[in-house]
Amino acid sequence: MEIDPDAAGSLYRTLAGAVIPRPIAWVSSVSPESTRNLAPYSFFNVVSIDPPVLMVAPGANADRKDTARNVRETGECVVNVVTEEFAEAMNASSATLPPDESEFAHADVEPTPSAAVSPPRVAGVAVAFECERYEVVDVGTAAMVLAEVVHVHVDDGVTTDGQLDTEKLDAVGRLSGNAYARLRDRFTMERPP
Ligand SMILES: Cc1cc2nc3c(=O)[nH]c(=O)nc-3n(C[C@H](O)[C@H](O)[C@H](O)COP(=O)(O)O)c2cc1C
Repeated sequence: MEIDPDAAGSLYRTLAGAVIPRPIAWVSSVSPESTRNLAPYSFFNVVSIDPPVLMVAPGANADRKDTARNVRETGECVVNVVTEEFAEAMNASSATLPPDESEFAHADVEPTPSAAVSPPRVAGVAVAFECERYEVVDVGTAAMVLAEVVHVHVDDGVTTDGQLDTEKLDAVGRLSGNAYARLRDRFTMERPP
């Protein structure tokens, strides 16, 4: 199969189905009216280590997404890492709610105060990155939110000798549609010099 993007209509199934598994940013933010927002975004990755910058991309008319609007307007968010125990709550928080209704209450997720930013992190998550807006780049109707990490919370239960231990972090990945992946079959390879 060869695909001409101009003729194919939406490339969503091809792009989201082939770029897998995608990590999931569970993003908390606060509206200018103080509603606490929470939503998952799998168009998500690390962009830079120094400065430490993450990327989250609300798409398909980003201006309709509370997360994009809140980060534009307030400049802050928290990226919570989704592990298996939070998968169902993460999914519940993806419901489309009006801007004045909080997904924390809707998905029965407990917020806990962050150290450096106003949006709360999700209580009990293994890793949470507290972020300030670095830049928001419009890409078509999507918004590439670049978020600079200003404080990191790492639960001691996922560390070994004072370092994050990925063997202990049961992060969930998104495939496409309703499909997800667990980290159950890890392997290592020596990297060439
Ligand atoms: C696992 C998962 C990943 C998602 N990833 C994205 C994404 O990368 N971009 C996007 O625009 N919507 C994504 N969504 C849909 C949003 O979470 C959904 O539109 C949500 O209502 C947006 O909430 P907000 O308006 O509070 O930001 C995803 C949903 C799920 C369940």
